Amino acid sequence: MAKYRIRGEQKLEGDIRVKGAKNSALPVLAAVLLSEKPVILHDIPKLIDIDNMVLILSSIGCKIKREGNTLIVDPSSVNSWVIPDKYVKEIRSSIVMLGAVLARMKKALITYPGGCEIGQRPINLHLQGLKKLGVKINDSHGYLECQADRLVGANIHLDYPSVGATENIMLAATKAEGTTVIRNAAKEPEIIDLQNFINSMGGRVAGAGSNTITIEGVESFHGSEYRVLPDRIVAGTYLAAAAITGSEITISNVNFEHIQSMVTKLREAGCSIINFNNSVRIKAPTRLRAIEHTKTYPYPGFPTDMQALLMSMLTVAQGTSIITENIFENRFKHVPEMIRMGANIRTEGKIAVIQGVNRLKGAQVNASDLRGGAALVLAGLNAEGETIVENIHHIDRGYEGLEQKLRSLGADIERL
Ligand code: UD1
Repeated sequence: MAKYRIRGEQKLEGDIRVKGAKNSALPVLAAVLLSEKPVILHDIPKLIDIDNMVLILSSIGCKIKREGNTLIVDPSSVNSWVIPDKYVKEIRSSIVMLGAVLARMKKALITYPGGCEIGQRPINLHLQGLKKLGVKINDSHGYLECQADRLVGANIHLDYPSVGATENIMLAATKAEGTTVIRNAAKEPEIIDLQNFINSMGGRVAGAGSNTITIEGVESFHGSEYRVLPDRIVAGTYLAAAAITGSEITISNVNFEHIQSMVTKLREAGCSIINFNNSVRIKAPTRLRAIEHTKTYPYPGFPTDMQALLMSMLTVAQGTSIITENIFENRFKHVPEMIRMGANIRTEGKIAVIQGVNRLKGAQVNASDLRGGAALVLAGLNAEGETIVENIHHIDRGYEGLEQKLRSLGADIERL
């Protein structure tokens, strides 16, 4: 298993560019199935999760070519509704294939995705919504057999604004007869991106970004050329890297509005941040200040995907910070590893209390999920001496060339 060796205490300096968002690229790739015509997608990051999505699409009959960060997908000969188990188990977000395959084939067979590193991750809201559209679902022996004679528009009220459920219902409703309205929909920027992509192929979706999304079913879609939105979590990760190392860096291809909640926290910690021409420049103080209380919420609240990264910064801030993780029940796995590095963190249920120390100390630590793993890399950049982060395949799921980018900024990090 690959690992990183990091020799900390180096200041970062320079410019980097963020690529397209993984969490946009995945549903957009699923949405390609709505069309029978080729689609060209730009700025798709090279990540294991994306490779697995490409393998799923190939396995059901899509022809896919990658040229750098561009994917050319020809979905004209899709001939299967069976989504192979091995990929669904590897990449939980492949559940979004369900809505897309149903729209295309009126049938789908997928293994129940089950829990993962960060929590139970139920899909009851996805299934309730699909049922409202007329899908019959047989849940047996760990498989979901889904079939619809007709997909028919419906009024769907989500109990919780789930990102995945909103995406799955949007996808299935695109080809339904009549109009679907999703209330209490997720408002994440990736939902707007999915709407824009569907509409670029001839779909009729409106309202994404608000809590009510309206989808008018259409019979057929055409091809499209589309660029996915920049990755706000990756941008936030590099901002946190600058903060934890007391550095000044510039990040380009950033939608400033999408990172507002993180920018607010970084400013509270004493960083100065300016936004210009789709770029953001951060200058961190020598010592960060503690942040009173951060609670993760659905967008535009503070993202759960940034929680571990913010925590790594706060381990070295002056004073006591509190973080409440409201979204996923098992998202503090990085805490014992940070404690191994000298951090002073106590957790009780979904609350973490972080008492800042002067500097972390290098140690051998284990990445057990994507963002928690990246947070340990940031901790290693601050730490005195050598840090080994093990099991970095988790990190590879969400960061293209993390070590190259950090090295280009002056970090001492290598993959072993
Ligand atoms: C997406 C993101 C993930 C991010 C999360 C929250 C992708 C590929 N992944 O995940 O990076 O951390 O949004 O912003 O875009 N829930 C239910 N029933 C359901 C569905 C969800 O109870 O049917 C609960 C979950 O347990 C969780 C909460 O809703 O507590 C949020 O989940 P959801 O928004 O669905 O996250 P994902 O779409 O899985």
